[in-house]
Amino acid sequence: MTLATGQFTVTALSPRELYARLLADEPLFILDVRNEDDFKRSPIEGRANLTTLNLPYFAFLEDEDGSVVRVPQGREIVVVCAKEGSSQYVAGLLAERGYQARYLEGGFLAWGNFYDVRDVVSAPWGRIVQIARPARGDLSFAVISGGLAALIDPLRHTAVYQDLLAEAGARLTHIFDTHVHADHISGGPALAQATGATYYVHAYDAIHPIDMLPATIAYTHVQEGDQFQIGEVRITARWFPGHTLGQVNYRLDAPDGQSALFTGDGIFLRSFGRPDLGGKGEAWTPMLYRSLTERLPQMVDDTTLILPAHFSTLDESRAGGVFAAPYAEVRATNDVLQPRDEAAFTAFVLSHLPVFPPEYVEIKRVNIGLVEACEGKASELELGKNICALSK
Ligand SMILES: [Fe+2]
Repeated sequence: MTLATGQFTVTALSPRELYARLLADEPLFILDVRNEDDFKRSPIEGRANLTTLNLPYFAFLEDEDGSVVRVPQGREIVVVCAKEGSSQYVAGLLAERGYQARYLEGGFLAWGNFYDVRDVVSAPWGRIVQIARPARGDLSFAVISGGLAALIDPLRHTAVYQDLLAEAGARLTHIFDTHVHADHISGGPALAQATGATYYVHAYDAIHPIDMLPATIAYTHVQEGDQFQIGEVRITARWFPGHTLGQVNYRLDAPDGQSALFTGDGIFLRSFGRPDLGGKGEAWTPMLYRSLTERLPQMVDDTTLILPAHFSTLDESRAGGVFAAPYAEVRATNDVLQPRDEAAFTAFVLSHLPVFPPEYVEIKRVNIGLVEACEGKASELELGKNICALSK
């Protein structure tokens, strides 16, 4: 979109284009004109070559002659606001002052709801597709084989999955949530209702860990060792308690020997899931220790692709924006997975827990049907990036 402001024109940058440039680590200057609280809660994050400056919108209103607000000359500036309006105005103002300015189409709202879809594996037996929501660091996956499909950890905006499966001509049969999420609202129950696919979750996660109330959503209990056939691939449920009591990893085995492990918030590429989001960090840490040291080695071999539900930084992606790595690489490069005895592990974990966002208790209620969330409430609950990993 191009906007004329007097004799100057400024063009919009779409969320898709912004993401491609962040992934490629192109030099980029973002001028974020939201208020300081919103900016601090959810900045746009990139890689080494991203520079971000927060100058709230009102600073421009009070700067009639351009003598106060100064941003770099001679490089492209992408102005970001909440919903687009103010950033259009600021970009126009900057263009009049000789700056090379653009604005983010749809503002931060559009960025927060932007999804990126790309193949992780494409083989004669089918595909593993990654569906990412970059602003939140959320990852979900589709397994498509023989005209059938399974989803792992689908996110709240269900249309992206329905479009993907329609394009692939695949019928959704299984929806697996690796656990009941605390950081985002699952798209699983809604997709199950819309498509008739079965929604699977471990029974231990179908009780709210703080309220101690049972789920009211329709779900099918999954347990250690359960197997599912999706076209030519087999998926096996592997219990991995620690992040939650009912965290389940799903192992995929394809006919060509390819294997993958959907680890949810079990392990990430550079961290693992914090054990305190059920309010019981000290009790669940020993379980997490056993999952990491005893259960995980039985679920993987060195070539098994690790496919987690979150990333922390774009640096974790491989060329092409895929967040995946063979287990041997994850074991070698994930500092928090380095061997420790149980006492050292417990001390390490309990001293590296990030803040506990209060909305995480409510998101779990939404995810098991104890409360409902309209669109406004859902997007408020999901503001900002996930904080599911241990901090370093
Ligand atoms: Fe999470």
